[in-house]
Amino acid sequence: MGGDSSSGTNTDAPKRASSRARHVAIIMDGNGRWAKKRALPRAIGHQRGVEAVRRLVRGLEPMELDCLTLYAFSSENWKRSETEVDDLMNLMRKFIKSDLPDFVANDVQLNIIGDWRSLAPDIVEMLEDALEQTANGTRKLAVALNYGGQNEIARAAMKAAEQGSITTQSIADNLDTAGLPPLDLLIRTSGEIRLSNFLLWQAAYAEMLFVDTLWPDFKPEHLERALDDFAQRERRYGGR
Ligand code: FPP
Repeated sequence: MGGDSSSGTNTDAPKRASSRARHVAIIMDGNGRWAKKRALPRAIGHQRGVEAVRRLVRGLEPMELDCLTLYAFSSENWKRSETEVDDLMNLMRKFIKSDLPDFVANDVQLNIIGDWRSLAPDIVEMLEDALEQTANGTRKLAVALNYGGQNEIARAAMKAAEQGSITTQSIADNLDTAGLPPLDLLIRTSGEIRLSNFLLWQAAYAEMLFVDTLWPDFKPEHLERALDDFAQRERRYGGR
């Protein structure tokens, strides 16, 4: 293996990630700009954004990812106009309804992270049903809904305190992502370079990739390229 000094060979080669990424998360940004460039309403940009999600989930199998996490609605997105929030919630309803049979058929296990239980009761009910129907799936799709990283950490710390010990492990064990593999790669589309309160704890040692592609244009090939890029990264986790 590159950089394995114990083997006595190849000591100058950098340590590559070498193993494939198991868990990739995406900040799906750029729906509005995609629509604006075409003089279309923002709602159409979001609709095309959902199509990009569907395309990606359907194209996942050959990529052998264990988990894909998508930032669909942040706890800050409530600040958008009522119409836009309604559009996003309606898209969520439609997406779950139309794609649930596909998840079940394709062994996808839906996970939801964030404070999703405070969404509209019909959405909560729909999500609970979807979680139940997909519980035995082996490929995880985590959707972040009403999600904020700082809030997730605060909730986890509170639960850890109630259990009697606040350590990095006890906090991690109480995060919404506790059942998911460690985050390997965080991608943001649309050229913006910031985390926007997404997976703050989990990103501690994740690799980051910022691409200019606007989310509705993102295709499985883009994810394949990102996975190739990840495999070339040198991961040191603070070591040498
Ligand atoms: C950012 O684009 C995107 C969002 C705030 C929402 C992401 C939502 C989707 C892709 C659709 C819903 C997803 C599912 C799973 C049903 P933006 O509006 O901030 O774009 P802009 O920065 O170009 O304005």
